[in-house]
Amino acid sequence: MRTVFVNGEYCLENAARVSVFDRGFLFSDGVYEVTSVIEGRLVDNPRHLQRLHRSLEALAMPCPMPDADIHAMQEQLVARNSLQEGLVYLQVTRGAADRDFVYPQQVKPSVVAFTQAKSILQNPKAETGLRVISVPDIRWQRRDIKTIGLLAPSMAKQQAILAGVDDAWMVDEAGLITEGSSNNCYILTADDIILTRPLSRDILHGITRRALLQVAAELNLEVTERAFSVAEAQRAKEAFISSAATFCLPVTQVDGRQIGDGKPGPVYRRLRDAYIEFARESIRG
Ligand code: PDD
Repeated sequence: MRTVFVNGEYCLENAARVSVFDRGFLFSDGVYEVTSVIEGRLVDNPRHLQRLHRSLEALAMPCPMPDADIHAMQEQLVARNSLQEGLVYLQVTRGAADRDFVYPQQVKPSVVAFTQAKSILQNPKAETGLRVISVPDIRWQRRDIKTIGLLAPSMAKQQAILAGVDDAWMVDEAGLITEGSSNNCYILTADDIILTRPLSRDILHGITRRALLQVAAELNLEVTERAFSVAEAQRAKEAFISSAATFCLPVTQVDGRQIGDGKPGPVYRRLRDAYIEFARESIRG
């Protein structure tokens, strides 16, 4: 049984409690971060905490703990659960108050965190690739805030699984892909340019995306930040995704159409390897 963190205390997962009046529960009034763990260490965590602040500020929510204390708590959870590889989930909600649409004043934010064991470096999908379907993006207009309101992406992912594939790529009203259900998307064009949607309120500003673009530049790979359509993805040489939970993974099929030769491509492989190297450096540094 895991040890989890709830409002200042470490307890066993079956003893953890939050109020039925918690606004995370009633309004999805909360934000979260997912940090990957390899070799028992948190990857790129300062940037995750930076984004946590950005999300909190967008919702006028105070930060409940100093960054150093959050980081120490996340490390405590990794240690107490002997986590070698996987994720630390961290959630901050506005807190518990009688149900009212107006933000309550002077409530204490709720902080919950837990670990999830997961094979990241040896993910079999890194070799076989993901198959995706496209679905309409039915989410709200502030996708840059990492809120816990995840029903639309959950519906999209469920639709993908029912369709017998791995994930869904969400498409906006202009027919352009926004992002995956829980990852950022990329394609490699016929003339070897990596395309990924530019940062805006339409997508989450992925921490893995940021690092991946950094390593792409170091590898002298050409990147253009522009949105692309499903048809462009289907014509691409390669396609891939990024997230803390997956690092970089190849996409080999979009809406039943094979990408390239249907196998993970060389540019993807270079990026995944370079990102893993970046992650290893991040845990050492
Ligand atoms: N999801 N886009 C969306 C909609 C996401 O939910 C995520 C991450 C990303 C990638 O962001 P990052 O590189 O910072 O992980 C992009 C996390 C992993 C999750 O919800 O589990």
